[in-house]
Amino acid sequence: MSIKTATLKGVATIEMARPQKKNALTTEMYAAMAVALKAADADAAVRAVLIVGQPGVFTSGNDIDDFMNRPPATLDAPLFDFMRALVGCAKPVVAAVTGAAIGIGTTMLLHCDLVYVSDEARLAMPFASLGLVPEFASSLIMPVLVGHAQAAEKLLLGDPFTAEDAVEMRIANAVLPAGEVARHARRMAERFNSLPPGAVRESKRLMRRASQAAVLEAIDAEAEVFRLRLSSPEATEAFSAFFQKRKPDFSAFG
Ligand code: COA
Repeated sequence: MSIKTATLKGVATIEMARPQKKNALTTEMYAAMAVALKAADADAAVRAVLIVGQPGVFTSGNDIDDFMNRPPATLDAPLFDFMRALVGCAKPVVAAVTGAAIGIGTTMLLHCDLVYVSDEARLAMPFASLGLVPEFASSLIMPVLVGHAQAAEKLLLGDPFTAEDAVEMRIANAVLPAGEVARHARRMAERFNSLPPGAVRESKRLMRRASQAAVLEAIDAEAEVFRLRLSSPEATEAFSAFFQKRKPDFSAFG
């Protein structure tokens, strides 16, 4: 199993632990993360959730081999179930971005409450470069956060960006030294132990209230296009190029 979970001092930790594949997320990992999020929400002993990667990598995003061979077939697929579980999580979610955060590695941060990023992390949302479209409501949230022009650099060109950029773009709270980020994020998560949990949950609900329905609607709208794009010739070329360690060639596409 490449997801490790543990609850300690009021914090339910969800650790992505597949370092040999840069924590690329498989169908099974999404399913396990969705279960862990729902269990944390239901467990009265849990005051906050902490999502963490491995030293040097948060996650390289969806497993591209899975995208080629086991694409999500319906809106009930574990990928989308994980998205809805994170959006629906009533308790505060803290992310420790321990390194590279690609694709959903970046878009999941848009749904966390507190985000701390390693100074060595690189973030990117290269969906269009992969023949895909934005997911996890990033097509809705990014233009609102940073304006259309900045969002276009990240979502159309797929430009990578730094931890400092992530703070400037209001995706993250702070940049920490690589060796500190996980500890700092845990300390922040543990702060919820001394706060009244009902007030925290209600406050989070109210903060998300105006956007929640639109976010869920955007996830579904993106997913419809995303699923079709996964088997498009453009995506097939991009995925093959990744595994053949070459630049993709889109010159033949109209
Ligand atoms: N899906 C499947 N396998 C992946 C992967 C992914 N998203 N990301 C990395 N891997 C695999 C590589 O194929 C490689 O496997 P191998 O050892 O069998 O050849 C291994 O993980 C190590 O990756 P590598 O690319 O050699 O590491 P790196 O340190 O040079 O680069 C990244 C790290 C994260 C920058 C790079 O792996 C990357 O760009 N990954 C793809 C990210 C992506 O496009 N994700 C978006 C999905 S929507």
